[in-house]
Parts: sequence; C-alpha cells; structure tokens
Amino acid sequence: MLKTAKLSKPHFATLCFESVPIMQAMNAESTQHDEYALRTAQFFDSMGSDYENAFAHDACLNNFIKKVLTMFPPASSVLDVGCGTGTPVSKTVAAQGHKVTGIDIAPKMVELSRKAVPNATFEVADMLEYVPKQKMDVVLNILSLFVLSRKEMETMSKKWAEWLLPNGLLCICMFAAEDCNPTKDMYDEDGLCARGMPHMFMGQQDLLTMLTRQGWEKMLEDAGFKIVDTEVDLFEPPAGAKSDPEPHYFIIARRLS
Ligand SMILES: C[S@@+](CC[C@H](N)C(=O)[O-])C[C@H]1O[C@@H](n2cnc3c(N)ncnc32)[C@H](O)[C@@H]1O
Repeated sequence: MLKTAKLSKPHFATLCFESVPIMQAMNAESTQHDEYALRTAQFFDSMGSDYENAFAHDACLNNFIKKVLTMFPPASSVLDVGCGTGTPVSKTVAAQGHKVTGIDIAPKMVELSRKAVPNATFEVADMLEYVPKQKMDVVLNILSLFVLSRKEMETMSKKWAEWLLPNGLLCICMFAAEDCNPTKDMYDEDGLCARGMPHMFMGQQDLLTMLTRQGWEKMLEDAGFKIVDTEVDLFEPPAGAKSDPEPHYFIIARRLS
C-alpha cells in the first residue's frame, strides 16, 4: 500500500536513474527495498508498450503458454506475477475462461493490462510484498524475476508455495546461469548461482544474477515443489529492441500436497 501511494506521487516519476544499470543496481543484496521498487517501476513504466512490441511475438513463449494451458484445471484461479502489458500471457490465459489476477510493480504496465484484458483483474503490487486474497491453482512468473537478488528469488520460492493450492502449478520463464556464458569467477561458492553476466535489455547494458539449472531445482525442492518439465529456447528480439538474444529457461513445477 505504502509503496503504491509513493509511486503515484508525481515527483517520483521525474527521478533519474539512467546512469546506473537497473539490474546491476537491483541485484546488490544491500539495495534499499523502496529504492528497488521505485527504480523497477520507473524502468518498466518508461518502456510501456515498447516492451510488448519487442517481446510479445515470442513464438516459444506463446507455445509454452499453450502447453501449460493444457495442464490447468477448468476455470482455474491464475496469478500472473509481473504481468507487464498483459499481452500475451494474461490475455491468452483469460481467453480460455480462467480467472486471471495480474500484478505488476509498474503502474503504466497495469494500466495497459487493464485495457488489453478487461475480463481479468490487475493491481499495482510488488511481488515481494504481495498477499493474494485466495490460494491459486496456477502462478505464472514469466520473465519477471530479472531484477531480483538470489535472496529475493528464494523469498519468492516460499511465497509461491504459500500462494498455491496443494498440487498447484508454478510456471516460470527465466534464464539459467549456464546459458549466459558465465566465467568461473562469476559463480557463488556453492556453484548454484552466477552474478555479473553482461546482458543488453531494451538499450540498457545490465549485469545479470541467475541461478543454474541445479540451483533452480534445489531452490524449488526446498520450497516444496517438484519440477515436472523444463525446456530452453533462444529468443532473438527484433533489431529495434536493442536487446541481446535471450536463452529462455521454462520451468513447470507442482506444489507437493
Ligand atoms: C520483462 S517484463 C515481462 C512482462 C510479462 N510477464 C511478459 O512476459 O510479457 C517484467 C515485468 O515484471 C515487472 N516486475 C519487476 N519486478 C517486479 C516486482 N518486484 N513486483 C511486481 N512486478 C515486477 C516489471 O514491471 C515488468 O512489467
């Protein structure tokens, strides 16, 4: 609540953060949480529908959504976390008769989602603080974990378990560290996460923090999930998007009863 009120004040919208790569800044474990939320919201608000124009036509993502839809119970309650503009994910899922709630930290993204998917519910919220009104059949976190630190990803894994009904479905799209060309020195001591991997996203050079495949497996198992399917697919954003190719790592996991 506090965060939403802060973000809606006009003077926050004029703050400038261009000099610091967003993901680099946000991946520092010591980052102040309010600053993180504000910068993330501003970064994605500044993009608005440009993001959708560049990324919504990703055939692999659209195929993944089609695949997971076959695993949803009829009329599922679905939470789309970091919903962006609502297209293609919330829109495709809602069109199949599921009850979609989308959250995003960026108010402009939520506004675009509301317009694009009028038969779903959207709200401005930080996933790290959000508490759903009901337990969900399905949680989707599609390309929305990039600015989280390793510790925050672990926090999210516990939240997914709290938010889902027993046997509920968790669908994630991220990158796995080993697909981002890390050097040996970029790995954490336990070898399950790598940091500082350069990546260009929408014209901005960032440094990524990513779990390895084994890191994902361990984190999700520790949180009470069983991975049922994974796949990797390289998405080539259009030239105008000023973004590096993205090795999308898709994970489908079930919350154990
Ligand atoms: C790369 S976009 C992906 C959007 C959408 N899931 C899709 O695949 O089209 C990432 C989205 O996650 C949102 N986001 C990032 N951090 C967030 C957080 N802590 N809480 C909620 N949303 C967040 C951003 O505002 C942005 O809209």
